[in-house]
Amino acid sequence: MIPLYVYIPTLASCVSTNIQTENTVAMQSLSNRDQPTLDRFPEAEDLDSRPDIVHIRLRAGKKKHTIFDWTTGKTITVEGYAYNDMLPGPIIRIQKGNTLIVDVFNDLEEPTTIHWHGLQVPMEMDGVSGHHTGLEPILPQTSKRYEFTVQQTGTFWYHPHYDTANQVNHGLYGAIIVEDPTDPDSGGIPLIVDDWTFPYDGDGSTMEHFKESNEGIWTVNGLVYPKIELADSNRLRWINASNTGYIDLDLDNATWIANDQGILSAPQSLESALLVPGDRIDILSNTAIAYHFPYSHLGGERFGEKLPLAQISTTTTYNIDAWNFTEEIPSADPSHTDVFLSLQGDTHSNTWMINGEVFPMITPMEIPAYRNTIVEIRNVSPTEHPLHIHGLRFEVLSIDGIAPLHKRMEDTINIAPLQRIRILLYADNIGDWMTHCHILPHGEHGMMTILRVR
Ligand code: C2O
Ligand code: CU
Repeated sequence: MIPLYVYIPTLASCVSTNIQTENTVAMQSLSNRDQPTLDRFPEAEDLDSRPDIVHIRLRAGKKKHTIFDWTTGKTITVEGYAYNDMLPGPIIRIQKGNTLIVDVFNDLEEPTTIHWHGLQVPMEMDGVSGHHTGLEPILPQTSKRYEFTVQQTGTFWYHPHYDTANQVNHGLYGAIIVEDPTDPDSGGIPLIVDDWTFPYDGDGSTMEHFKESNEGIWTVNGLVYPKIELADSNRLRWINASNTGYIDLDLDNATWIANDQGILSAPQSLESALLVPGDRIDILSNTAIAYHFPYSHLGGERFGEKLPLAQISTTTTYNIDAWNFTEEIPSADPSHTDVFLSLQGDTHSNTWMINGEVFPMITPMEIPAYRNTIVEIRNVSPTEHPLHIHGLRFEVLSIDGIAPLHKRMEDTINIAPLQRIRILLYADNIGDWMTHCHILPHGEHGMMTILRVR
């Protein structure tokens, strides 16, 4: 979910003006010599020469990550995991309508799976194992082939769905770009943000990447405050792959063109965007610096000083008039409710629930197939939760009774404490679909259920 902040000239904005000045000074004293350049965006090699099939190989294995913060000279090393030894894993690029085949080899010492976050795939391909689905994970030193046809367009990502919080936290994630060849700028690059906490003793030897507040450092494609060089595209596809971290992006003169489920029904100029774990937004940007503000999912507003996240330079200037948006108003809310989800729990017990149930002791919710289902979600807990629904996509009908300006399609949506969100779920994919908080430790501590579409 992307709340837009409007800058009203109050005391708060005076404060942020001061901050900006301080930041500019701080940045000038950085030694730009050390700033890393992000000009390589490795893509998975397509092993199939047929134009409508993308066949790639992924190997999940151990990998030591070295995160160097050139702005302070500190380094964190993490005994982590990676796909094909890369952080993030290789980009999977495919065109709408084509078939994706992925052969995964598990070189870890524990089982794993891959989930294709946001893509509507058959249930056996969704990467969810366990007694609810009867599906097996990929055991160590074995392989599995995932194969499905891609019918959506947009920015998606892949990550394990076995011991999920732990494995994603170790660095197993990568971007999936599904191109619509009719877009004026269908390519672009993924910018995957993740957060890392420096060990307080400073020697950088421990795995301290789990955290509940923003006290660490954010990386973009594994680098701290990189210079990003874009050739022949202005399209940045932001993905938040953090386990728990919310990032409040502060963008200059950007145009927001797509979210979780592809192109918006109208472009919007964007000053800032809250990107919650699992969330994606595509923006068009010219040369600019992207900043972020610290933000805690424990509730509330951005806080602290704005911090530089990425320095973007482009060789082209975008023209929004070249894009065809199909202006659509939100569907009418029929005002009945088919499924009710109450998000519950608290940080003291660290038990998280949906409708009083702690996963895996849950009752799947039955949904008739091929019928639109109205779901009402209420957050009665004290923290925010990014709710993600597998296998399906949904339209946002209202947030606290207010309909969005334009039709808005999502698969991940943030719900603030005491918020009430109504969605129209397109129940067009048969299966048992995991529905959970994408603050991954919350999901693992119970905030997960199943929508059973039959
Ligand atoms: Cu991105 Cu169930 O996950
Ligand atoms: Cu949560």
